[in-house]
Amino acid sequence: MLSLTSFALVALFFMQLLGLYFYVQYFCGWGSIFREDCVYPPNPLVTDKRTRGKVLRKGFSKIKVPPNLDALVIGSGVGGLSVAAVLAKAGKKVLVLEQHDQAGGSCHTFQERGYEFDVGIHYVGQMHEGGMFRVIMDQLTDGQLQWNRLANHYDSISIGHRVYRLYAGKKEFPDALKMQFPGEEEAIDKFMFLMKKVARHVALLGTLKILPEALMRQLLRSRLLHWISPVFRMSESSHQDIMDGLTRNKDLQAVFSYLFYGVPPNDSSFMINALLIHHYKRGAWYPRGGSSEIAFHMIPLIQRAGGQVLVRAPVSRILLDNGRATGVAVQRSEGEVCVYAPVIISDAGIFNTYERLLPAEIKTIPEVHSLLSSLQYGMGCFLVFVGLKGSSDELGLKSTNLWIYEENDLNCLMGKFSSMSCEEMCEQLPLMFITFPSAKDPTYSQRHPGRSCMTLLTMAPFEWFSRWKGQQPRHRGEEYEEMKMKLAQGMLGRAIEEFPQLADKVDYMEAATPVTNEYYLRAPEGSMYGAEQNCSRYQSDIINKMRAQTAVPGLYLTGQDVFSSGLAGAVHGGLICACAVLNRILYLDIILLKKRLKSRIRQRKSM
Ligand SMILES: Cc1cc2nc3c(=O)[nH]c(=O)nc-3n(C[C@H](O)[C@H](O)[C@H](O)COP(=O)(O)OP(=O)(O)OC[C@H]3O[C@@H](n4cnc5c(N)ncnc54)[C@H](O)[C@@H]3O)c2cc1C
Ligand SMILES: *[C@@H]1O[C@H](CO)[C@@H](O)[C@H](O)[C@H]1NC(C)=O
Ligand SMILES: *[C@@H]1O[C@H](CO)[C@@H](O)[C@H](O)[C@H]1NC(C)=O
Repeated sequence: MLSLTSFALVALFFMQLLGLYFYVQYFCGWGSIFREDCVYPPNPLVTDKRTRGKVLRKGFSKIKVPPNLDALVIGSGVGGLSVAAVLAKAGKKVLVLEQHDQAGGSCHTFQERGYEFDVGIHYVGQMHEGGMFRVIMDQLTDGQLQWNRLANHYDSISIGHRVYRLYAGKKEFPDALKMQFPGEEEAIDKFMFLMKKVARHVALLGTLKILPEALMRQLLRSRLLHWISPVFRMSESSHQDIMDGLTRNKDLQAVFSYLFYGVPPNDSSFMINALLIHHYKRGAWYPRGGSSEIAFHMIPLIQRAGGQVLVRAPVSRILLDNGRATGVAVQRSEGEVCVYAPVIISDAGIFNTYERLLPAEIKTIPEVHSLLSSLQYGMGCFLVFVGLKGSSDELGLKSTNLWIYEENDLNCLMGKFSSMSCEEMCEQLPLMFITFPSAKDPTYSQRHPGRSCMTLLTMAPFEWFSRWKGQQPRHRGEEYEEMKMKLAQGMLGRAIEEFPQLADKVDYMEAATPVTNEYYLRAPEGSMYGAEQNCSRYQSDIINKMRAQTAVPGLYLTGQDVFSSGLAGAVHGGLICACAVLNRILYLDIILLKKRLKSRIRQRKSM
């Protein structure tokens, strides 16, 4: 009896301590690495090429490797930089090694004949002030990265020449849809309801990846979690199945899965599609100064803690000692250079990490083997970069993006598309995306006066160009160039049907195939968004298994393969990875910071 009382007293004492801890955290942010005073008023945009190069293009050499590293990251995509920046905030000295000649991964940009093009950031959602993702991005960039909001009408979707418009805003979004789909009010409300549920509960899926795997496996097996939240079921259900329960209107069904990523609605997770729509519901943003700004403002945090981000540093293998990851070998013309650190983190994707960077026997470990065989390479993409004479204003270009579908049955369309040859694709163009980066960034016309740019995008199976796998850019021969430019011309023609004022303004055109993506980003088979995001990937047991910890002690994964893709997905991958490395639930710190900021915003508004 006595022992029970003393147990209760001790428990009470600890609960009070915990309460005190949260109280102090909440009001002061003590002990947290995420604090409001880490965010400074933005400095003027740096446009000087050399100054930017010093941050983004610092070349690897052995003497630049800082001594006594705490961690080493393979790959400088936003997944790699975000985990490095969080570790740096916790005082760790981190080295990031990038094989390309500049940092940023999919967030890098390139310049050609006075034009600048970004590779993999078209627009980003949830950047409203006080929002969780905005708070995170501000923390990871000292508040230096600025976001420019796109027009309220941020996307148009053309389905067989019927055009639907999406408007940002909690109320505007459903209201605009209801105007365009009379009689479908109930289906739209129902979808909004489910979408909200998914967005509210998705943190539970993230939690799976933070708490111990074996425990989570047991909880999943008992179906206890499925009983607690519907998000597990929604993640496992195919998008099509849930849509069929809401409406028979094929156009509306297509609108609710309009952001293509290579998987048809009948094979994709409802959770992912709902999150994608939810992501932009409050608005769409574009980095002011272009997407290279993301890496440009994350790197100083890493350097400040004594770390470095070095490019032209292709890692050829991860070094193991008694089964533990202890370092990496960097492939240089003069031979391999070995770099050691107690923690190794890979942003190179789950396939590269297991299939190329680790010894073959690791793949035969049963849990690794079973995980990899339940995943596949994601589909590649085909990009056309178009330089236009005249500023965005002169050409009347808008920040609104346009998604084009030839028909409304996206299952059929994706099925047809996957079996098409590249030649057939040139003629039919079943799906395509058009965007004007220069119209989304007010600084573009200052940085590139009298010019503007357009990017066209479609999906592309690797097989179309696989004959040229492994060959250097510009050395792939005439046949490759011809095939590539024929598809590019076809897409340009389609874009000019939509924007006839551009017909005589095209000054420059270049195209990128899955082989290009494989070369510059090391994306296996040029996959656009990492591992294929089909419904199997979002079964709860796979979500639980795809985590930052790997089968190799000391080795962690970050980036888009940890949870999901996109800038937000890759940054959350970085945060989940940092939780694993620091053994700390950093999300609590972020939630508390967000609450403090929110009450401050409320105070400011009420003054
Ligand atoms: C065409 C396109 C459009 C997109 N549009 C959007 C969008 O509008 N909004 C959005 O939110 N997201 C978008 N995305 C997705 C988003 O860009 C990515 O999900 C995200 O940037 C991935 O970050 P990551 O760090 O996981 O991977 P990556 O950016 O791919 O980074 C991986 C890095 O690792 C490096 N690496 C690989 N192997 C090695 C090695 N052995 N040694 C050294 N380095 C290595 C690579 O060079 C690369 O830099 C788009 C992607 C593409 C391709
Ligand atoms: C998703 O991809 C995996 C790996 O290739 C495959 O085994 C699985 O059948 C696919 N899932 C669906 C629902 O098609
Ligand atoms: C999805 O639909 C297409 C076209 O109707 C069909 O060919 C395909 O087999 C379906 N896939 C799944 C996983 O049901």
